[in-house]
Amino acid sequence: MKLVRLLANLGYGSRKEVQRAIRGGAVTDLDGRVLGESEVPPHDQIRYHGEPLDPPAPLVIALHKPAGYTCSTDDPGQTIYELLPERFSARTPTLNPVGRLDKDTTGLLLLTDDGQLLHRLIHPKKHCPKVYHVTLDRPLEGHEAPLFASGELVLKSETQPLLPAPLEVLGEKEARITLEEGRYHQIRRMFAAAGNHVVALKRLAIGAYELPDDLAEGDWRVLTPDDLARVLAKPLSTP
Ligand code: URA
Repeated sequence: MKLVRLLANLGYGSRKEVQRAIRGGAVTDLDGRVLGESEVPPHDQIRYHGEPLDPPAPLVIALHKPAGYTCSTDDPGQTIYELLPERFSARTPTLNPVGRLDKDTTGLLLLTDDGQLLHRLIHPKKHCPKVYHVTLDRPLEGHEAPLFASGELVLKSETQPLLPAPLEVLGEKEARITLEEGRYHQIRRMFAAAGNHVVALKRLAIGAYELPDDLAEGDWRVLTPDDLARVLAKPLSTP
């Protein structure tokens, strides 16, 4: 791939802007030698204004989503893209969230440009577990776990029952719930169907990959191959 296309695909600018940057000497090798448009050394040996390039596709990143940010640019208000480098929104192939979290939901959000991986993680038939911590307005009554595990709960204005969703009670008003699908406002609507109200919701894990303790709200990181293997593995604690 030519240097112009490589950098434009990574979102560093339009082809014209990138071409100008290359001609201006912004793109070098490790020793600071200016690269020409037709030279493409190995990815990790290219520097843009002295900085290593972002990783090439396929890319998977983990974002610790704070409350107040939407996952879609179609929605009004702040979006998760404001928490990422601007060039990430200009990448080809595009970086998409792996399922959406509501504006007020916090926690682990993955983004990827790998369509096959995205499908593997969000399609209900692939049974990829996502684990959430739920804080409720009223005490749990005991009927919720069997209701959610039944595979028979049909949400308001839907016809297809939900897949069984294990619920682990952690306290009077706290629980951990595992979903293998991601319907609109699913957990909030499940608890509404059980006569309760969700006051806080945080995604803790996808597969066996847990939100890292050292990833602060609003921060993100690139997943390593080991992290990705964990995303694709089943968590040991899944009931
Ligand atoms: N269920 C919800 O209700 N909201 C989310 O953000 C995720 C799951």
